[in-house]
Formats: sequence, C-alpha cells, structure tokens
Amino acid sequence: MKNRILDLIKKEQVRQQNTLMMIPSENYTYSEVYKAVGSFLMHKYAEGQPKKRYYQGNQVIDEIELVCKQNALLAFGLSDAKWHVNVQAHSGAEANLAVYNALLDPGDKIMSMFLPDGGHLSHGWYTSDRKITLVSKIFDVSFYKVDEKTQLLNYEAIEKQANIIKPKMIISGGTAYPRQINHEYLGAIAQRVGAYYLADVSHEAGLIAARVNNSPFEYADVVTMTTHKTLRGPKGALIFCKKHLAEKIDFGVFPGLQGGPHMHSIAGVAIALEKARSVAFRKYADQVIKNAQALAEYFIGKGLNVVSGGTDKHLVLVDLRNKSTNGWIVANALEIAGIIVNRNTVPFETASPFYPSGIRLGTPAITARGMKDSQMKMIAEWIVKIIDHVKEDTMPLDSSLRSEFLVSFKNKIQKDKFLLSVRKEVENLCKNYPLSED
Ligand SMILES: Cc1ncc(COP(=O)(O)O)c(C=O)c1O
Repeated sequence: MKNRILDLIKKEQVRQQNTLMMIPSENYTYSEVYKAVGSFLMHKYAEGQPKKRYYQGNQVIDEIELVCKQNALLAFGLSDAKWHVNVQAHSGAEANLAVYNALLDPGDKIMSMFLPDGGHLSHGWYTSDRKITLVSKIFDVSFYKVDEKTQLLNYEAIEKQANIIKPKMIISGGTAYPRQINHEYLGAIAQRVGAYYLADVSHEAGLIAARVNNSPFEYADVVTMTTHKTLRGPKGALIFCKKHLAEKIDFGVFPGLQGGPHMHSIAGVAIALEKARSVAFRKYADQVIKNAQALAEYFIGKGLNVVSGGTDKHLVLVDLRNKSTNGWIVANALEIAGIIVNRNTVPFETASPFYPSGIRLGTPAITARGMKDSQMKMIAEWIVKIIDHVKEDTMPLDSSLRSEFLVSFKNKIQKDKFLLSVRKEVENLCKNYPLSED
C-alpha cells in the first residue's frame, strides 16, 4: 500500500546511505534497536517506576525498564549501592530540566558554559536582550568561558567566578568543546562552594562507556547524557545520580516534568547499552577519536584554524575567519558535495548564530560505517578544497543585501561542477562502506 511517509522514510534512508553523516551529535544505531523502537512497546502507558506503576499490565514493561537500568550502571562500571539511574527522560534537554526541577528552587544560581564557546542551550542560555530558554527565565544563570588564547577552559578562572557567584549548581558539558573536561577539578570547585556538580556528558557518553574519555562519575553528583550520539542508541536520555538523590530525581522526571515514559525507546537504549560493553564498541570508540584527530591534523597542515589546536574527542571545530568565509557558506557547499556538517559558533564569536564563523564536524557515524585513517584523509582533502573553492563568495555584512546573496549562492552551488564531481566521489566512498545491518 502506498504511503507518503513510508516513501519519505525510504528517501531519507537513501540520503543517509549516500552522504557522509558528519554532524557530531548524529550516529547510526543497530538493527535490534530499530526493532525495539518500532515495536508494540509504544502502545503502553507506564507512568511511575518499575513495580510502582499507575497503570495495569506492566509486568513485561517493568522487566524491560529494570534491564535498561542495570545495563546503564554496567556500561559505566557503577555500583548500585552508590548510584541510581533514571532512564525515563524523553531526551537530553528534558533530562537536564528534570535535574533542575529536582534539585533547585526558582531563582537559584547556576553556572554553566557560555554557548558560543561550546555550551548547550539547556544549560540556561540567554542573551543581553532575550531570555531564550525556560531555564534562564526560572534560574539565575551565569556563564563561564574558554580562555581567549588557548580556547580551553581555565579552571582557576572558573573557581574565582564560582567563589564570587556561589552557585547552587555548576554544570559542565556542551556541544562543541573538543577537549576532555577536568571533572575532578570542577567537582572540587562545586564541593568547595557548596554546589551540586552536574556533568552533562551527552556528547562523549559513548567515549566514556568505552573508557577512552575521562569519566565524571567519581566527582559528579549527577550525570546526564543523551543516548543517541556517541552511545549509538535511539533518541533518549539517562540521568545518573548519587543514591541519596534518587527519590528527588525520579520525582523531578515524573510527575514533576513528564507523563508516560517512551518504553519503546527505553528498550532500544537497553540494547545499545549492552552493546556499549563489548570489545567491539571499545575499538569503535577508540577509532572515532583517532579519526577525529586525523581530520584535525590534516586541517591544521592545510592552514585551517582548528579550535584549541586539535581534539580529544569525536568532534572538530574549525574557525573559518582566517579563510574569509563563514559556516553558512561552507556547510551549504559541503552539503551539495554530500558532506553533511553543521555550521557552528566558535569561541569569541563575532557573527550571529545563524551565520556563525565555524563548522563543526564529527566522526561517530562515519566510523560506524567502518571508515579509518585513509578515508579521513580523502574526506579532509575534499573539505579543504571546497573551502578554497567557495572562499571568494563573501556574504555581505549589510543584512538588506544578504537575502539576495543567500538565494543566488544556493542556486549557484546546485549546479557547481566541482562540488558535483566531489559528490560523485563521496557517493563512491559511501558505496564501499554500506550501512551495516548490525
Ligand atoms: C550537552 C548536551 N546536552 C543536552 C542536549 C540536548 O539533547 P536533546 O536534543 O536530546 O534534547 C544536547 C544535544 O545536542 C547536548 O549536546
């Protein structure tokens, strides 16, 4: 039977097969996860906690949620005597909201990373003229920044700021910080000022599970993470907390914030977490970092400004200002060539978030296809050539002239012979690395 949405799903699948998925927060999951997420489980209401539900008929559902919780603790090597995990948050932003809901009162002070330096919206972003997030409307949020020279977090400066602000919560983590975070230092600062330390490791969760990035668990009171990035699960989130906070956190999720948990997603998360304990997953995560480092090295060799001079993780942030171009131009040109990245702000950003100065690239999904060093070199070469190819197309500073430029640039690149020739090569590469069924 013909169905428009099923046709569109097929079309999107073909797009994902024929292009390079290089947005660091995206990844391919496993065939078993598709089965779980598209299963009968989505029919079930299960408000409450395992064995304490508000609805009947939850015997099987209870087992699934308990397995997911156990897999979560095992994946990160945590003992259930010290740690509790809630697996019901619908996604990363909701997980963070649930934590604030559980542990803070309106008006309480939060310290989190400045968004243009790589922080996340859900950590309370606002601008001088607009309270953009609900979190910023409820709480008194201050931001810490990276050092202007090193583009790294300056922990001494964060400590000084915390001593003045005396926040009730310090949050680490973000979307575009390419270096590992010193959880020990931040945990100690939080302890000294009497704050909770929330480590949001959404991006590096899989790398932490694989033991190839620092674990925050020894130092944090609460750890949140999404399940769909480096962890390779379906969309979802986990909230880990020290045992004494368990009741508050569970109440903060339900009934405090959400209705029924998405049991189909929780089942998929349980499967991904089990896989994250395998030797194969550890090798995968190690290769994710090696691939990102290979890209960064190549870019630096070709004169690109890689933020912080490299990466310890799955992502590379490139500041394009020294090439006199910007993230919008480059990301759109790369898309025509089948290389899907996202435009991104960079530290000490001078442009708007819609037309920012950088691009952010990630290796989780292309590594999941089996690509390694020599493919990274090919991809990096294409990217460098494309940046050179479009750098003459300068975006007018005058916003009244901008919309005309955007339309004509987009039309021009559709037919650009060079970009289309790279696209052919990208498609050939993708054919050689088909999406695995497992
Ligand atoms: C650090 C961090 N926290 C939270 C989120 C929000 O996750 P979600 O998009 O699932 O709400 C993200 C998403 O990119 C993230 O990077």
